[in-house]
Amino acid sequence: MNAPEPFLFASDLDGTLLPNAAKRAADGCLERTRALLDVLRRWGCPVAYVSGRHFSLARGGQRTFRLPSPDYWVCNVGTEIYDAAGRPDQDWSRSLGPNFDRLQMLGALRSVPHLTSQEAAKQGPHKLSFFYPQPANPTLKVQILDSLKRLRSDLRLIDSVEESSGRALLDIVPEAAGKAPALHYLARKHGMSDDRVFFAGVSANDLDALASGVCGDLVGNAPDAVRDSAARLKAAMPQARIYLSEQFYGDGVIEALKAYQLVTSD
Ligand code: GLC
Repeated sequence: MNAPEPFLFASDLDGTLLPNAAKRAADGCLERTRALLDVLRRWGCPVAYVSGRHFSLARGGQRTFRLPSPDYWVCNVGTEIYDAAGRPDQDWSRSLGPNFDRLQMLGALRSVPHLTSQEAAKQGPHKLSFFYPQPANPTLKVQILDSLKRLRSDLRLIDSVEESSGRALLDIVPEAAGKAPALHYLARKHGMSDDRVFFAGVSANDLDALASGVCGDLVGNAPDAVRDSAARLKAAMPQARIYLSEQFYGDGVIEALKAYQLVTSD
């Protein structure tokens, strides 16, 4: 493989670079993924791991699967950015406004039925996360944001589905946060235009980054519902760059990098 010029490589971890979702990875997939990441580093491409997980859990995943360390960690669904040494990016954090007052927010949400808080470790200074019994409908989303308006009007909801249980996951984050804004922040830092930024993902919380104008890739092992949403976005936004890989996990990532000609096969 070859890269004509450096680009920013960003990818989700669980189910994307880490072959740990329901579908089985092809033999040797993880080794090919590691080799890709090593070679990207050698070419001078900045590498960012982008995860819904908090920092220590994301690093735990990287270590368990023995992936090389990245230049950046985008954690807690794009509400936190860390450098290679694990130092939080204070400018990014400041740009998201004051830290959440969790108790006040939970109080305001008391009237919304069936919301169950996720574990304490999964809450962040700019992320309040819940389980919900079924995928969130638009009425529920409006109800949540309305209940919080009095406290903060610059919030948005990221909803996704936990593949293993089918439960809905709801993250409340500042409007300025998320995987897509975090990716663009890093791209600006490196002076990279959208066509020199690659992002691969697998779940509903990756869709905003996929459709944000960068070279987006949904790996082939994504659940059908996410694949359908990505296909709809691709049809509705011809200006966006959205590639739907056939292959699973890291193999799907390599397939997409070649399709975008960010790397070549020779
Ligand atoms: C990760 C986080 C969880 C979040 C989910 C979807 O699993 O740990 O808090 O709800 O991603 O964004």
